[in-house]
Amino acid sequence: MDDFRTLIATDTIERRIRELARDVAAAYPDQPPCVIAVIEGARVFARHLMRHLGWSTTVHEIRASSYGAGTISSGDVQVSGTVAPMRGQRVLLVEDIVDTGLSIARLFHELGDQGASDIEVVTLLSKPSRREVEVDLRFVGFEIPNEFVIGFGMDVAGRYRELDRVAIFDAAREARA
Ligand code: IMP
Ligand code: MG
Repeated sequence: MDDFRTLIATDTIERRIRELARDVAAAYPDQPPCVIAVIEGARVFARHLMRHLGWSTTVHEIRASSYGAGTISSGDVQVSGTVAPMRGQRVLLVEDIVDTGLSIARLFHELGDQGASDIEVVTLLSKPSRREVEVDLRFVGFEIPNEFVIGFGMDVAGRYRELDRVAIFDAAREARA
């Protein structure tokens, strides 16, 4: 096994996702929204969430990237992929982690321009201490301290997404491993 310190254990994550699914389902009693996962990071979380929701809808994907290869956001958020049609449709954005908030703020903007209404966010993790823009997060799995995390879909330069827990990335430990 790798050497990274666990921040949130697998069974704790699973339990929390089940609770989140219950809250999300209650918010959409009549019909499921248009679900959009922010890839790559949110794919794993979206898969687990959808399994509990049991909605037979497609999970759309949109890419927002600002990191390049490091652990420091460039602040310049690139969005690619359009999700259509959705004029007047309610949207549920699925994120792995909200850090500065710049990506989500940008996506709110883009999807609003495409005519989406009532955009809500469900994110597995949030780092409130890092926020640069205020974003309204309706469903949050865990608030975490200012650490760079990996696992459960989250990566550093494309690595460690497959860890089944959330761990703290530590470059020194990686070098020793
Ligand atoms: P934001 O735009 O700063 O809120 O960052 C958004 C995106 O950066 C997240 O959706 C993640 O994909 C990525 N990110 C932010 N913090 C971390 C982290 O600690 N580990 C891995 N990815 C992160
Ligand atoms: Mg993400």
